Amino acid sequence: MDTEGFRQWSHRAADWAADYRAGLRERPVRSPLRPGEIAARIAQVPPEQGEPFERIFADFEAIVPPGMTHWQHPRFFAYFPSNAAPPAVIAEQLAAAMSAQGMLWQTSPAMTELEQCMVDWLRQAVGLPADFSGVLQDTASTTTLCAVLTMRETALAWSGNRDGLVAHPQVRIYTSTHAHSSVEKACWIAGIGADNLVRIPTRAGDPRMGIDPQALEAAIATDRRAGLLPAGIVGCVGATSVGASDPLRELGEIARRQDLYLHVDAAWAGSAMICPEFRELWEGIETADSIVFNPHKWLGVPMECSAHFVRDPATLVRTLAIQPEYLKTHGRDGIVNFSEWSVQLGRRFRALKLWFLIRAYGLDGLRARIRDHVAWAAELADTIAAEPDFELASAPVLSLFSFRYRPPDLSSPEALDALNQQLLDAVNDEGTTYLTTTRLDGRLVIRFQIGPFDTTREDVDCAWQAVARIARTLESA
Ligand SMILES: Cc1ncc(COP(=O)(O)O)c(C=O)c1O
Repeated sequence: MDTEGFRQWSHRAADWAADYRAGLRERPVRSPLRPGEIAARIAQVPPEQGEPFERIFADFEAIVPPGMTHWQHPRFFAYFPSNAAPPAVIAEQLAAAMSAQGMLWQTSPAMTELEQCMVDWLRQAVGLPADFSGVLQDTASTTTLCAVLTMRETALAWSGNRDGLVAHPQVRIYTSTHAHSSVEKACWIAGIGADNLVRIPTRAGDPRMGIDPQALEAAIATDRRAGLLPAGIVGCVGATSVGASDPLRELGEIARRQDLYLHVDAAWAGSAMICPEFRELWEGIETADSIVFNPHKWLGVPMECSAHFVRDPATLVRTLAIQPEYLKTHGRDGIVNFSEWSVQLGRRFRALKLWFLIRAYGLDGLRARIRDHVAWAAELADTIAAEPDFELASAPVLSLFSFRYRPPDLSSPEALDALNQQLLDAVNDEGTTYLTTTRLDGRLVIRFQIGPFDTTREDVDCAWQAVARIARTLESA
């Protein structure tokens, strides 16, 4: 493709993207396709000769969008959001055009320095103290892996990377029963093992479903007596299932007393901390050694962009920096090489999309969306709680709550689970909205989480009307 072709097709792609966003409400939220339908339309062997771009683009338009679940859809209320605000999408195009690799400061000074500035903008935006610095990782899973590796190496006095783990006592990590699966995966990959991830129950009667600090400290003491090596705690704020949040100040005190590293996973909820009134959810956050939240969830940055704050970057860098001769940057003291802060060596230009996003909306513009989402979730939760055939299963945490359909004539827990699964499947097949389930105290509940950038109150109402309407058809079936 020559320069003029690139210009012409880039314009066409921009038109497509703008039309796509404008027409999202007309599409079913979740792709209705069956497994294999897309693959069946793709050539089985790669072409030997280049094809006209017209044909490539036409195939894209015909094949790909019907096979997409539309995460930018204003009625996408499943999982957590993955927003892509237009200014940040434009930044992504520019970054792709340059496709620079920011492993070292000198491989693109603008990438490193803009990343330092954007991490600091985010730090200020969520109200963290100035002694936190950080890095943009790809995902929260990777960030938590970096934190778990740092815990491990700190506890082993930086000998694990050299010796492996065989010669050492078993490293132990502590987390809540509500923690995300990425914590367990980090323990697999770090060689710690799932059995050495100690799941601490939540405190009885705690509406925030936070970890029980007494049980945590008792578990640490038991492990020490058994000759095991406690290394760190992973706290959560706004956990995935129903938004459980740990008492961070108490976790911080335990971490200091026990000389443990504290990492906090606020992957989803962290974005809401740009609103000061929601910060009580992570009260005590300044006691953490490491914090992750994902601007690629609720804040509007396209995948992937995960903010990783650390109080002492030296421990992270000592864990992850590896300097073969070809990566040494002699005589450049005082510069940051972000590949030494992360698992991957090659790194994308993530900071550009944050820069565009925050400048285009301003923090106030971003706050307005999050505040609306939280307010609409509270309104809908009240509506559902007042419905005779529905019950609220978990109260809203920011914009996440869960509910169940519960017709009065049905009381068997298994039958209710089956009915709610049937309702969810019918709702998602119909396509007005897209919701997912989780288990709460062993029972199936339907999650509702408001997060898409372009959602309006009418979209929320429209999604709820679809649920209520479809539930009535199940009743009469
Ligand atoms: C609380 C929490 N932690 C971690 C993750 C993993 O995030 P990522 O997809 O960025 O790895 C998620 C994903 O939804 C999450 O909800």
